[in-house]
Amino acid sequence: MPKSIIGGIGMYVPGNVYTNNDLTKFMDTSDEWIQERTGVRERRFADRSNETTATMGIEAAKIAIERAGITPQDVDFIIFATLSPDYYFPGCGVLVQRALKMNEIGALDIRNQCSGFVYALSVGDQFIRSGMYKNILIVGSEKHSFILDFNTRSRHISVIFGDGAGAVVLQPTEEENRGILSTHLHSDGNDAEILAMYNPGSHANHWVKNLADYNEAEIGDQYESHSMIDAAQNLPVMDGPGVFKKAVAKFPEVVLEALNKNGYSPADLALLIPHQANLRISQFIQHKLKLRDEQVFNNIQKYGNTTAASVPIALCEAWQEGKMKQGDLICLAAFGSGFTWASALMKW
Ligand code: COA
Repeated sequence: MPKSIIGGIGMYVPGNVYTNNDLTKFMDTSDEWIQERTGVRERRFADRSNETTATMGIEAAKIAIERAGITPQDVDFIIFATLSPDYYFPGCGVLVQRALKMNEIGALDIRNQCSGFVYALSVGDQFIRSGMYKNILIVGSEKHSFILDFNTRSRHISVIFGDGAGAVVLQPTEEENRGILSTHLHSDGNDAEILAMYNPGSHANHWVKNLADYNEAEIGDQYESHSMIDAAQNLPVMDGPGVFKKAVAKFPEVVLEALNKNGYSPADLALLIPHQANLRISQFIQHKLKLRDEQVFNNIQKYGNTTAASVPIALCEAWQEGKMKQGDLICLAAFGSGFTWASALMKW
């Protein structure tokens, strides 16, 4: 049975750099607070009129496809992970198919927020292993800036996130010492509402009992309306300490699950690439797993948390910086809204 390898990888981040000091023009915050609590120094925000989640994903995809040594017409399946799609529907996968003039191949969108890319990788891996597809394009892309609230009331959320995209081409290999060894997917919906954007949505107050525990705002209209916008009910909400607590428990657990499954220990890792949620979370994982600095890759300082794009962007930068060589043991791990969390262990 073939294993999957990453045959090509690419990333795209918008040119607009917003430093922490830039954010102080919109809200009551400071560079010191943001760096101390999150590690973020700056982030990119997409051009409001020209760049979308799909267009950024397409740019990253073009690079990944070229580096894989194939053409867009050789791709036989698309998986697109995002929480900020261009349209409520259809998904972004078909926009990639159209823009890159691909054949009438399957296009699947994944709505798993921060773990979306690792979930997508796991789905793609199954298709490669079964022999169904040979060139799978996986894209993670986010344009958070259009849903972030730059008012002081949302400062604990808005300072963390940024825009960008990453993409990989997954291909089969028969080589012994290469490829994805295993993937591990998890969820726990008990706290689904503590990191969420409720509207526009079909909840119609169905979950309001839960929502009331976390959000003082009255959840009234079930569809976008002036009153909803006036009451700021169409914006993301986050219980930061609640997310932090769960993340630092589940991240190390899912990394160890992948290592144990394949007979490895943290000391064997050449590189852990965690979802760039928050530098403090990455440092906690590093400490818990007793990893050296050079075993953990962080670039949240430059891009903020780019949700489904963060793992492929970090993977691409780590590769571009020459941090992986063939045969190295690499672990990707992610945790986020849902909650969902996941890992993938591979030999590069
Ligand atoms: N600038 C300045 N002050 C801020 C601020 C900001 N951007 N955001 C919040 N504060 C203030 C709060 O108003 C509060 O003030 P008060 O004590 O006067 O009430 C104080 O800082 C502490 O707020 P709190 O929310 O308890 O901060 P925290 O130490 O938990 O840090 C997070 C907030 C969001 C950085 C932290 O909880 C976190 O990292 N959580 C995980 C979030 C995450 O990773 N999300 C993505 C998951 S994929």
